[in-house]
Amino acid sequence: MKELAKYDTARYVIAMDIREYRVTDLPYLYEICLKTGDNGKDATELFYDPYVLGQFYAAPYTHFESDCVLILEGTSQGLQRPLGYILGTSNTRAYTDWFNQYWRPAALALYGGTEGAKSPTETAIRALFAKELTCPPWVATYPGHIHIDLLPEAQGGGWGRKLMDAISRRLAEKGCRGFHLGVSGANEGGIAFYRRYGMQELAQESWGIVFGKLL
Ligand SMILES: CC(C)(COP(=O)(O)OP(=O)(O)OC[C@H]1O[C@@H](n2cnc3c(N)ncnc32)[C@H](O)[C@@H]1OP(=O)(O)O)[C@@H](O)C(=O)NCCC(=O)NCCS
Repeated sequence: MKELAKYDTARYVIAMDIREYRVTDLPYLYEICLKTGDNGKDATELFYDPYVLGQFYAAPYTHFESDCVLILEGTSQGLQRPLGYILGTSNTRAYTDWFNQYWRPAALALYGGTEGAKSPTETAIRALFAKELTCPPWVATYPGHIHIDLLPEAQGGGWGRKLMDAISRRLAEKGCRGFHLGVSGANEGGIAFYRRYGMQELAQESWGIVFGKLL
């Protein structure tokens, strides 16, 4: 997977590569999740707690199925570090059970109250832990699911497409027949990317669109 990204003097991005997750990547996952968490844009100003987004959308996957977490590493501003990730699970049903039994009670102890949130977005994210996750009907055909986030300096260079190809291979190797993902209706860039990648549109929800890919 070794390839050179385009040289960008303004952002000091020199070389990038996709690799396996390591436990020391975890803080970067929280950071990347926050910095892309406002419909693809930086959500830092929306949260008092900089971790709560990652507690739902990133960290649990590293505990549940770490071989379904792939890291885009590169150099940014002189520092070699994770610049993006794609992560998920090959088995949404099993993940849902595990999340409800293991992860949710611990998260609820931290985020159970909605008081003290800085924005309606932070209130909504905290509230995600208030009820049990359920499996959507398309899990039968698309049993895996994923999330992908790249920092701005890693966007637009073809790495999103490469990460989607890489997770597709990984999930297929694990016997997964297909995966799905949800994207907010306000995330125009994300929707354009998934359409361009050729994902199938599975459902229109009040909050956005569900896409799927068979493997
Ligand atoms: C969305 C995201 C994963 C795409 O990754 P990327 O590396 O920027 O995309 P790529 O460079 O691989 O683009 C792949 C294709 O999608 C198209 N595309 C990507 N972003 C697009 C956008 N904002 N608008 C229109 N087309 C877009 C590209 O033109 C490209 O088409 P091509 O292969 O025909 O040239 C990345 O920009 C990102 O992490 N954004 C912020 C977080 C986010 O929104 N995540 C998704 C949440 S559900």
